[in-house]
Amino acid sequence: MKPLQLEDEHGRPQAIRISERVHWIGALDPNLRTFDIILKTANGTSYNAYILRGSDGVAIIDTVKEGFAADFFARLESVADYAEIKVIVLNHLEPDHTGALPELIKRAPQAQLFISQKAQSMLKGLLKKEELSFRPVLTGDSVSLGDRTLQFLHTPYLHWPDTQCTYSPEEAVLFSGDVFGCHFCDNRLFNDQVGDFRFSFEYYYAHIMRPFKEYVLRALELIEPLALQLIAPSHGPVLRDRPQHYIQRYRQLSTPALHSELSLNQKTLLIFYISSYGNTKRMAEAIYQGAIQIEDVRVSLYDLEGGEVSPFVDLIEEADGMILGTPTINGDAVKPIWDLLSSLTVVNLKNKLGGVFGSYGWTGEGVRLVEDRLRGLKLRVPIPGLRVKLIPTDDEIVECQAFGLELAQELMGLRAARSVDMADLP
Ligand code: FEO
Repeated sequence: MKPLQLEDEHGRPQAIRISERVHWIGALDPNLRTFDIILKTANGTSYNAYILRGSDGVAIIDTVKEGFAADFFARLESVADYAEIKVIVLNHLEPDHTGALPELIKRAPQAQLFISQKAQSMLKGLLKKEELSFRPVLTGDSVSLGDRTLQFLHTPYLHWPDTQCTYSPEEAVLFSGDVFGCHFCDNRLFNDQVGDFRFSFEYYYAHIMRPFKEYVLRALELIEPLALQLIAPSHGPVLRDRPQHYIQRYRQLSTPALHSELSLNQKTLLIFYISSYGNTKRMAEAIYQGAIQIEDVRVSLYDLEGGEVSPFVDLIEEADGMILGTPTINGDAVKPIWDLLSSLTVVNLKNKLGGVFGSYGWTGEGVRLVEDRLRGLKLRVPIPGLRVKLIPTDDEIVECQAFGLELAQELMGLRAARSVDMADLP
């Protein structure tokens, strides 16, 4: 497929029509290789912005990153005058979508800003202006442009707390912000014309949306009933061919798979360990033996040395609890444990049950450090970590079994509340 004419015969950027009254007025950034420090982009990205024309004025939906403002304004000017702008919608305030906003406000001071309820403090932080006129909106709110309307959908955390989607029912276009987007740059613009971007779509979901699956599912409840001609995201291809396909894919990716494997009341507890001389392994096996005493707890025991991190992250995402075993070497937990923990930022761990154990030779700081990390990741760690000096004795093995049993009881809500005597704490 040939590239679209993103510039006119004089080389000036021009808008691209994507539906009867909607034009793309965004910018391409083919040279970007890393986005937001962590995301790789093999061929760059796009900052998609749109303009909707109604009989009573026009609306701008999102802007672009600051360095690309010239393209944005040139494309805007190719289809509208600034005096016509009645509405500016900001679906998301991250700077890649608001970089041109201060200048746009200067050029169209009459326009009313529409942002989500949760974006209000962010907008003040972004523009650093005391006097700001904007309208916070929620699902059910809308704004009229005469014969065209924009309806707002409250879709927080996709990708920041402020994010929302905006829908034009007359155009059957969803301006989805980061949702359904990807970092993929292609001047053919439409999903049925560009190169194969499936990997980029999945990668983007995995890094941006995956930690917020519950919020994705809530957003889909709002999006799925919409009549759609196309989805206009803020990055990557405009999804005009089978837009429902991408909605279905989001539902698949966000729906827990483990539910179908478990009986009604079952909960899952994962035990991961790494062991230098077999001592932490012995502890792990004893903890496992203790945990499996509790009915309806599906316990799994894994040696980190024998597995890749990525599938373990998948398991942890859907598990109810996780116990980690680490030796202490040079005053720290060992690298495979930290590698696993650092990979968990892509999943939601809030309120999962956590526990830590390990054998040590000298000082045993590793267990405490991992405990702190689990709490930092918002797991519940109700029982202090269990440490054994070198080889566990028979009594210490019994202690490990009790540790596993107690954590499994906690998982099922069967553990008796204990009062902690502060004098007993080390
Ligand atoms: Fe594309 Fe979250 O900004």
